[in-house]
Amino acid sequence: MAKPRVILTRRWPEEVERKLAAAFAVEFNGDDRALSESELKDALQRADAVLPTVSDRLTARLLEVEPLRTRILGNFGVGYNHIDLEAARARGIVVTNTPGVLTDCTADLTLTLLLMVARRAGEGERELRAGRWRGWRPTHLLGTRVAGKTLGLIGMGRIGRAVARRAHHGFGMRVLAYNRSPLAAEELAALGAEPCASLEELLVQSDFVSLHCPGGQGPVLDAARLALMKPSAFLINTARGDVVDEAALSEALQRRAIAGAGLDVYAAEPRVPEALMRLDNVVLLPHLGSATHETRVAMGMRVLHNLEAFFAGRTPPDRVA
Ligand code: DGY
Repeated sequence: MAKPRVILTRRWPEEVERKLAAAFAVEFNGDDRALSESELKDALQRADAVLPTVSDRLTARLLEVEPLRTRILGNFGVGYNHIDLEAARARGIVVTNTPGVLTDCTADLTLTLLLMVARRAGEGERELRAGRWRGWRPTHLLGTRVAGKTLGLIGMGRIGRAVARRAHHGFGMRVLAYNRSPLAAEELAALGAEPCASLEELLVQSDFVSLHCPGGQGPVLDAARLALMKPSAFLINTARGDVVDEAALSEALQRRAIAGAGLDVYAAEPRVPEALMRLDNVVLLPHLGSATHETRVAMGMRVLHNLEAFFAGRTPPDRVA
């Protein structure tokens, strides 16, 4: 029997590409360039499985393509707001993601951003590399102490919980948690987190606010909510760019209505708003949350297992549509 045809929209870690090649008839993306809309359409017409990432927008319009050959979208990533799930369901396409395997590394990167922006690490590195460092002095690049401060977490899924554990047990922070559906008191207590009845209350009380909610549902933090944060507070975003109103955030940072931000994600990646690029009180990373060798291999293996189950006639373990 012919092997199912599979198209990858990006380069994947080599060991996973080798495993995929052994199991399926695979087309790789040798030059690792994001596929255009017409190339994605063509992939949907030629492959049984298309394996997209966050850089591919699978809109309702795209999924209307005729004739359609694709029966499964094996997303390389846990977030799937770039895929129109309703449209996929309507076309009978199964969609899977990669939960669990990127929790620790994304939580680590959240703390990386938090520490970098609090301790002005980006500014310091830029100064040193530019040859502008004038030596140790008591008032040089003074940042903000993290221990003992309050971290407000918006969204308490796997990543939010892993951040809570690190921040409380590792860095001695007080952790406030807001989640759309309430969490069990014992579970929060084990993480060292306290529940917050409303988002507004969390924003008013926190010295650091970190976003861990899914994208694709409009900004959770708009201008009015950003205005509730303390002028000394920092915002961290490793979730999705569209969960915060980027224009309102840039404005708040420029006016120093909040002290700073650490961002890994942007609304229109890879475009980063010019206004943010100009600010020194912002740490900007290029969507590195899950970017470790171990995690990217584990994510690829997760997709492979989903495909194997699907083509063997079983329900893929990480089916989201
Ligand atoms: C994820 O898995 O959601 C990462 O942000 C990459 O898409």
